[in-house]
Amino acid sequence: MEEKVIYDFDQVISRQGTFAEKYDARERIFGKGEVEPFWVADMDLPTPAFLVEAMRQRLEHPMFGYTEQYAAVFDSITWWMRDQHGATAEQDWISLSPSVVTSISNAIQVFTKPGDAVALLSPVYGPFFTYVDVNDRTVADCPLLVVDSKFEIDFPRLEGILAQPEVKLFLLCNPQNPGGRVWREDELQKLVDLCLANGVIIFSDEIHCDVVYPPYRHTTLLNISGAQQLGLVAHSIGKTFNTSGLQASFVIIPNSGLRNRFRGGAERMHAADINLLGKIAMAHALSPQGAEYKRQLVEYLRENTLLVADKLKVLDIDVMVPDATFLVWSDFRKFGPWKDVFQRLMDDANVALSGGIFFGPAGEGWFRINCAHPRSQLLPAVDRIVAAFSQ
Ligand SMILES: Cc1ncc(COP(=O)(O)O)c(C=O)c1O
Repeated sequence: MEEKVIYDFDQVISRQGTFAEKYDARERIFGKGEVEPFWVADMDLPTPAFLVEAMRQRLEHPMFGYTEQYAAVFDSITWWMRDQHGATAEQDWISLSPSVVTSISNAIQVFTKPGDAVALLSPVYGPFFTYVDVNDRTVADCPLLVVDSKFEIDFPRLEGILAQPEVKLFLLCNPQNPGGRVWREDELQKLVDLCLANGVIIFSDEIHCDVVYPPYRHTTLLNISGAQQLGLVAHSIGKTFNTSGLQASFVIIPNSGLRNRFRGGAERMHAADINLLGKIAMAHALSPQGAEYKRQLVEYLRENTLLVADKLKVLDIDVMVPDATFLVWSDFRKFGPWKDVFQRLMDDANVALSGGIFFGPAGEGWFRINCAHPRSQLLPAVDRIVAAFSQ
């Protein structure tokens, strides 16, 4: 029997000199090269050794030419979706994609035309706005409501938005970034029913669906009745296995008409394939070994997010304890204009957080803390924030 690996998420590993955006972009973005970074959503926790070893073995061979989309990659995706999410993803439904954002932009291009509108629920991951905008479409924003420190969908308002004839596509973040909400099955069913009634296609970005804290459970759009007609589901190993730099994601599209349109767009951009190491990482990550790593990771991250939320509550601010994701979203509006708070976080607490404005106008004044760090890094940083804003 194989020995069970116990992952050590407490070890601090320097990322200096690895071209990590979280570290190397500090001077450019924050004007302060030494500030401790808890912003961009990748982890300061190591990719599991078995995955690194699989890539290392391939690097022993000295040729890195064009690669085939070999079957093991698709087998691993099908297995993972079945085992981890109880969903059927037939191999023919799967398209590889360099990144989820590539797929978002492609979906906008193939399912809408310039001047059309794309619906979303904000605050939400910034590129949802950016790629609507750069493709000359309009955002139809339905801001989320904050009820008892959780996001809720404003269904009456959304109903009105989806009924507008120019709205052709709905970008859903499931689970939600930045608030960490897991959308319930009944909420997803309502969304699908509204989209079906109005002929709106749904792109469900499920990149955060593996970091979900029991008793919450991720419901993939694939398992919602009617969604197979109008839904696309995007996922990636980037968040769960800390491999975003490898650019390896995939999209599952059960409906053949939608699938052909999506693939046509990807092929026109020559973006229907991923790189060699990404394929190897995907084929190995989405496996029983990967599932055990994920299980231990989720336990560690659960504790981190709870500890951080608990500490921040001392400031008597709204803090969203996430159902999913390694992110904690908090309301700093009572401390003044967001730019001043942003500066104070850097000057007085020496931390760089994601400012809420990145997630759309509804996020202004809120900040997001990335908790995927060893506790010896994370907790003192949060203590400094609390000290800075307790004065
Ligand atoms: C909701 C969401 N979608 C997509 C991404 C980026 O995914 P990718 O690197 O595959 O484009 C992120 C990264 O933070 C995210 O939070």
